[in-house]
Amino acid sequence: MAEPFLITKELQKSFRDLKAVNGVSFSVEKGEIFGLLGPNGAGKTTTIRILSTIIQPDAGEFAIGGYSTKTNPDKVRSLIGICPQELALYADMSAFDNLVFFGRMANLSSEEARQQAMANLELMGLADRAKKGRVEKFSGGMMRRVNLAIALMGHPQLLFLDEPTVGIDPQSRNNIYETIENLRDNGMTILYTTHYMEEADRLCKRIAIMDGGKIIALDTPYALKSQIGDPEHISLEEVFLKLTGRSLRD
Ligand SMILES: Nc1ncnc2c1ncn2[C@@H]1O[C@H](COP(=O)(O)OP(=O)(O)OP(=O)(O)O)[C@@H](O)[C@H]1O
Ligand SMILES: [Mg+2]
Repeated sequence: MAEPFLITKELQKSFRDLKAVNGVSFSVEKGEIFGLLGPNGAGKTTTIRILSTIIQPDAGEFAIGGYSTKTNPDKVRSLIGICPQELALYADMSAFDNLVFFGRMANLSSEEARQQAMANLELMGLADRAKKGRVEKFSGGMMRRVNLAIALMGHPQLLFLDEPTVGIDPQSRNNIYETIENLRDNGMTILYTTHYMEEADRLCKRIAIMDGGKIIALDTPYALKSQIGDPEHISLEEVFLKLTGRSLRD
């Protein structure tokens, strides 16, 4: 079997006495969409922030594309794109200018950044709004699509998508699904988080369910459903509730 594109070993991160990530290990194959699910506060975003080199783990290690962040942090950064849970864009700039800005931050030449910006906005169905008006005038769905288009700048090989479809209509959501599936078909590796179980079931080849900073289950959606009954008649939501319980987290 090929070496996994992303390997994490025993990652840990605490905030004061809260163990937000408590010994997380998993691997993601090249070209796989891997789902990281879990209730609010499970540690998904903290895991993604570690893997996208925004914060340092207290312990543990990980490698992306065969490179360790300890020895090759710049190489690792050049391989990844991140679509954060909170929109990260400049509201007072056009969509096009946002993408060019982030492209330049990723060391693209001005011309390359402009080319990629247009291509990515086209991919997200935003070509006609690229230079028209500030992003703050966009709908929620359009802003989410700009957020995703930004993550694609610099042709990353691994994408971190942290709840990319939160709060948007079925049309925008479908546009995002199709884009993600196309990217996957072209070899992109994707780490995906969502609270929408049907979405995870549709998109993800394998899923890790986190709770309290730990992975409590990891398998294909089909195998996870098989653990509690007939997979043809069980939803991933039932598996999720069975594994994580019904108590509220906040
Ligand atoms: N910078 C921080 N300082 C203090 N506590 C933090 C910080 N970041 C996260 N936490 C805490 O760590 C825990 C895990 O948070 P995290 O954001 O990783 O969860 P999550 O699984 O992404 O949740 P959600 O589904 O709500 O996005 C939570 O209890 C959160 O309050
Ligand atoms: Mg989160």
